[in-house]
Amino acid sequence: MDFFIDTAHIEEIREAKAMGILDGVTTNPSLIAKTGKPFRTVIEEICGEVDGPVSVEVVSTETRGMVKEAKELVRISENIVVKIPITPDGLKALKALSQEGIQTNCTLIFSPIQALLAAKAGATYASPFVGRLDDISQDGMALVEQVLQIYDQYEMETRVIVASVRNPTHVLRAALMGADVVTVPFQVLRQLAQHPLTDIGLKKFLDDWAKVPSS
Ligand code: E4P
Repeated sequence: MDFFIDTAHIEEIREAKAMGILDGVTTNPSLIAKTGKPFRTVIEEICGEVDGPVSVEVVSTETRGMVKEAKELVRISENIVVKIPITPDGLKALKALSQEGIQTNCTLIFSPIQALLAAKAGATYASPFVGRLDDISQDGMALVEQVLQIYDQYEMETRVIVASVRNPTHVLRAALMGADVVTVPFQVLRQLAQHPLTDIGLKKFLDDWAKVPSS
């Protein structure tokens, strides 16, 4: 399973990269806004740091604008994957972009049929949002399970990115289901490496080490 970080903060991206587990980055307009920096500065900084795919979302809502934005975005760096929302216009944009060989990530997926449509339209990646479904008392990971089953059944090549991840259990379930990618906020990424018994064990080793005579 590939690990992407879901952030636009360059410091978080650098830290995740240093941890040796970073395969790519996903951003969205809200995450870009949180940096307080101009859009292009943020994207250029991220693409300069990361070798893997960097998802960047369009803000147009009609096909022509989406395609135009996508073409401008991929000129910034070859690792840009254009994020397109799953709407009727988005589907048309996905089709046009896939015919031009531009990589896409179909975003804001909340139903398995939306994911099926995204794959049929030629999306490179599809992003089911699990946390936002959990927030309204639905089981977000059940959506991922259905999407994986459909893609497997029809041998579709679109890769599934488990998105809107809120906790390590989402990551565990994604790995058990065989999801292709999980995109994780920085604080969850840190949590993944932690365990209370690791902390207790380390403290005990260091306390005992202090009792070892120096000569
Ligand atoms: C995915 O690509 C999105 O950027 C992200 O996972 C959305 O997560 P949120 O629901 O925490 O905003």
